[in-house]
Parts: sequence; C-alpha cells; structure tokens
Amino acid sequence: MGPRVRAMRYVFLTAFVSLVLARPPCVQASEPLDTEAWLRYARLDTPTARNYEQLPSASVLLRRSLVLENARRELASGFEKMVGRALNSRDSINGPAFVLSTLSDLRSSAPSLRPPVALEGDGFWITSARIRNFECVLIVGASDRGVLYGVFALLSKIARGESIVGIDEAQNPYAPIRWVNQWDNLDGRIERGYGGPSIFFSGGKVRSDLTRAGEYARLLASIGINGCTINNVNAAPGALEDSFIAEVKSIADVFRPWGVQLSMSVDLSSPKVIGGLDTFDPLEPRVAEWWRKKADEIYQQIPDFGGFVVKADSEGRSGPSAYGRTHADAADVIARALKPHGGVVFYRAFVYNHHLDWRDLKNDRAKAAYDNFHPLDGKFDDNAIVQIKNGPIDFQVREPVSPLFAGLRRTNEAIELQITQEYTGQQKHLCFLVPMWKEVLDFDMRVDGEPSRVKDLVSGRVFHRPIGGFAGVANVGLDATWLGSPLAMANLYGFGRLAWNPDLSSETVIDEWTRLTFGSDPLVVKTIADLQLRSWHVYESYTGPLGAGTLTNITGNHYDPGPESSEENGWGQWHRADHQGIGMDRTVATGTGYIGQYPPEVQKLYESLAACPDELLLFFHHVPYTYVLHSGKTVIQHVYDSHREGAEQAQAFITEWKSLQGHVDPGRYQDILARFEFQAGEAVKWRDTICGWIYRLSGISDQKIEARPQ
Ligand code: GCU
Repeated sequence: MGPRVRAMRYVFLTAFVSLVLARPPCVQASEPLDTEAWLRYARLDTPTARNYEQLPSASVLLRRSLVLENARRELASGFEKMVGRALNSRDSINGPAFVLSTLSDLRSSAPSLRPPVALEGDGFWITSARIRNFECVLIVGASDRGVLYGVFALLSKIARGESIVGIDEAQNPYAPIRWVNQWDNLDGRIERGYGGPSIFFSGGKVRSDLTRAGEYARLLASIGINGCTINNVNAAPGALEDSFIAEVKSIADVFRPWGVQLSMSVDLSSPKVIGGLDTFDPLEPRVAEWWRKKADEIYQQIPDFGGFVVKADSEGRSGPSAYGRTHADAADVIARALKPHGGVVFYRAFVYNHHLDWRDLKNDRAKAAYDNFHPLDGKFDDNAIVQIKNGPIDFQVREPVSPLFAGLRRTNEAIELQITQEYTGQQKHLCFLVPMWKEVLDFDMRVDGEPSRVKDLVSGRVFHRPIGGFAGVANVGLDATWLGSPLAMANLYGFGRLAWNPDLSSETVIDEWTRLTFGSDPLVVKTIADLQLRSWHVYESYTGPLGAGTLTNITGNHYDPGPESSEENGWGQWHRADHQGIGMDRTVATGTGYIGQYPPEVQKLYESLAACPDELLLFFHHVPYTYVLHSGKTVIQHVYDSHREGAEQAQAFITEWKSLQGHVDPGRYQDILARFEFQAGEAVKWRDTICGWIYRLSGISDQKIEARPQ
C-alpha cells in the first residue's frame, strides 16, 4: 500500500470512528450531579458507624473566631451526616467533647499536653486525652486555620471509615504558600476553563450570588489551600479600579471563614492605564507611590488580602522592558507596597518571546525563563516570589522540570502546576496529573552535587528561604462538577494534598479521593483508582510520546491533534519533525545549549543519547526515525505502537467503567460512561492523525500493520 493510500485510510478511519464512537461528553444525567465533590459526607453503613459510637456528642470552642466557629459548624454537620448524631455546642469542657482549640488557648485548660511534633504554620494535631476527667478528642491548631484543617482531616478519616481510636497525629504543611490561581475574566469567561462560567464574575461585575465562591473556599480549605487569586493572569487593569475593589471585598468576605486569602492578578501598566500617570516605569517614584496607595486602599477594604500575581513581558503583556528595567525592579516596586500589610507578590517566570525565528536552530523558547531570571537572583525582595511553571515550555503532557528551580538560590520560589487540563484533554479525557506532579516534585536537581528535590527547592528548604510553595491553576466554574467532569476533580484534590504533603504517594491520594467521592465499595475504589493512575500514561501514549510535547493544535484550541501547527511559527513549541527525524536538539554540544542550564549531574543525564530517558528523548535530541530506544524499538515503531496501544487502553476504560454499573449512583455512572465513550473516539482520532502524519513525513510504515494480512 502506497503512502497516499495509507494516509487516506487513516483519514477515513478517523472520520468513521469519530462518527460511530464520539458523543458529546455531556449527557443528561438521570440524577443531578451535586457540587459537594469530595465533601459528600455520605451516611456510613451501620457497622462502620459503630466505630464512632464512643465519640463525644458535644463540641467545645475555647475561644470564638470566624474560622473557629466555622470549623465547629463543619464538624457538627459532617459528623451528623455521616454518623447520624448531632453535636451540642458548649463553651467549656464539662463533659466528653471534641475540643477545638489553638495550641496557645489549650495551654490554659491542659498545660501538660504536648503534640508529638512541634506545630508550625497551619499545622494541626488530633489526639484523644482526658481533660478534667472527661474523655475528649482534641483538634488543636497552630492557628485558627490549623484547627479548621484538623476538623477536615478528622472528618475525612471518618468518611473513609478509618479508626480514630487512640489517635495522636500531628501534621505540618510542607510550605507556607498553597494557593490556587483562577484565570477568570471579569466578563465571566474563564481562560482555559472547562467547567462553565466564572463563580466570581459576570458581565464585568462581581456576582451578587457568591454561594459557589463560598463553597469553593470550603473545598479549598478541606485540602489545606490557603489562598486564591481570583482573576486572569492576563489581568484587566480595571480590576484595580476602586469601584471594583469594593465589589471584590464581598468575595473576600465569603473566603474568610475558610481561611482562604484573596489575591488578585495585576497588570503592570495599571498606574498609567487606570492611574492617570504618564508612565508605569517601576523605578519612577510616582509609580511606586501609586502602588503604595493602591495597596493601602485594598487593605482598608480587605485586611487579610494576600497579594498580587504579575504576568509581565509575556505573550503581549506590558512589562518593565518598556523602560529598560528588570523583572526584579517590577516585582520589588509592588512588593514594597504590599510589605507593610504582610502581602506578597508572585512574579511569574513565564516570560518568553513568542516571535522567535523558527528558522534559527539555536533559538529555544525553553531557555527563556532561566535566561531572564537567573541573572536576577538575589535582587527580589523577601516578600516577592518567582512563580515557575513545572516545565520550561507550557504544561505539556511531558516536559523535564524547569532548570530555573535550581537557578535561584537567593530568591523565593513557587512551582506553578496546571490543574485545569489545557494541554491534557481539557477534562474531556481522563488524565490524573498527580503521578506527573510527583515526578516533577521528586526530581533531584543535584545542586552542588547534593540532594535538592524540586519540592525542597520550592518550599524554601534547600536554600533556607523565608517563604515559598505551590500555586495551582484551577479554573473551576459554575458547572456542578466544578471542573467540567467529576473524575477531573481528583486533580484539584491531588494538588491540595501534594501542596500540603508532597511525600504522599499517588496511590494514597487517589485512594482517599475515591473513597470520599464514591464511597468505600472495594470494587469501586479499585476500579476508579486503577483508571485514574493509568490515565496520564494512556493520554500521553496517544497524544505525544517520547517527550515530543503535546502535538495539539497549539495555535488554536490546544485540544485537537494538530502536529503541524507547532512548526514554522514564532511560538517555539517546535518538535522539528522532518523527513529524516524528529525532536529538538537541545544539547550543549550541537544544539540550543538548553541542557547547560541544569546542574552538572542533570546535564550528564540529558546530554548523552545513551543516558537520556526514552520518555524525554525527543525533548532533548533530534534523532532519525530509525533510532533505537532503550526499549529496543525504533522511534517510529514506538510512535505507532504507543498510539495504537493508547487508543486500545482508552477503549478498555469503557469496559472497566461498565463493571461499576449498580455500584455507582446512576447519575454519575451514566455521565462518566458517556465521557469514556467520547474519549475512546477521540483517542482513535488522535492515533490516526498522528500515525498518518508521521507516516507521510517519514515514509516508514508501521511494521505491525504491514505484517497483518490485508
Ligand atoms: C498558556 C495559556 C494561556 C495563558 C498562559 C499563561 O500559554 O495557553 O492562556 O495565558 O499559558 O500561563 O500565562
């Protein structure tokens, strides 16, 4: 069969299978999906509920505050829903009780009690103890927020049927910064959001009904998230108008009982665009004064305001380069305005030239963040944080970690992970990202030849930074499922759990999430956990194997297959596929030199073809299609096989899901089934598009299809 006929066959197959299999992912569920996500607090079956019979029937607050009272309400409501018993509220310990208290408040009632480890930040301690001769369960926080987190942790244990007899458990967060970013526009649309319109904004105003915003804050608090940036990083300057801040205040009001600090994305040109100045030069005193006044005004309305997120000199945004100033100059003028109020500025390292000359083989977008920010190390104020995407390109299905994590020793860092699945199937495909994030966070940069895992760099542990942590681009919307798909919520849950404790395994995270979301039926837990844990590799295998990046339509929707769209334009998401071979040569020896941005031990891993792991081969090297991988296959055969196997796996997801009929409520069962059917069709479309494309380029046929009788 000649190349043209074969290509036609792929096209025909694609169209046929898409017609037969692909259905829109949203079907009318037979029961409405609710917005509780993993906080369902479903009634426990009688034998499980019996485990909690000995628990007290009262709760005591040693002091009142907005967060503490909310924590008590959450405990009472969750406990009653699951165990079927109401909790009386008391103000002193005069009987067995759940005692909700900060460590300092507890000292007056029980001076001798000590947590097994010192509590820090928003840490908590749950223990059982006799106080004034009464059996009590203590939920103790380092702060009020810590108490709230302790309540959620206890309720999670009960929801999962875990024993709490003799409990004595203390947990501290890994890092102080655990934020989500929402890319919501003020008109109500969400950039790269797949879960419906904004829960915050509509028609240029803050919504009058902020019920969902409050429910969101509750979900965030339940996984230890303590901050939320409410508007798009491509910020509308109008977000800082006084009249708008007055509206934003009402969002902060619904966040506050959940200990979630509100923050905003800002446009660097605001002093000029809305402030009436003729400049936004960060070194101009009038500009500094404008930011200072703006911060003062905001803190008057929102005393617990978290700070600002800045995207500058990137993808057409204004930036300090307009005045020949540095990113540190820009970050610091804002940091200084926030400092007296305890606020922080997140300055995004996602800075690159999107008009790169694609004909110059030495050009490389991947180098941009390091090139821009490494020379500025040490120049950022202590309340400025450089926010770095996990990889050097842009949330592709597989990237190496950004070398910038190792390139800032005297600067605070946060890692930016993307919860919304922009390049990973946009919630129409199952793609559980926790295993990917684990690989990133556990990656050892070997700075100075010493252990320096990414999680320890961003949390500030390696270089003893005062602040640092995690930012997740969430983009939930008004859809009842929040992200646009019930199974995708495992990513939001997983982000929060890893930000709290990146040492948790993917298996633990998904086991928790599944039990909380679907209950503890062993078949359900096993099936859903298996599907989720395999899903990233499956998605990768039919979209972009060997580190070529996602071969999506990058100039359009970032969803459909579109391998040609990456090439011959300035965006720099090149894979350099031609008739002989594929991949970007990023070596120091012959390529763009990107690999030289890593510490020496990591350079060694990637520079040589022999050492480079297969899954990142095409990110770092340009090789002939006939190059033999460590697996023993040629690159081209791997591409064919992985696409075929990936599409088969996606098809198998349907069968596996069907085994849960009768074990999952009909509403969610049907909804998710339709999604898997849709995904299977899309996987076939991906398989045929990519295989057809690479066949036309290389002229090398798929040995397995060739071997089959026609
Ligand atoms: C991606 C995304 C944009 C977003 C940008 C960013 O490129 O497609 O919509 O604005 O990332 O992170 O700033």
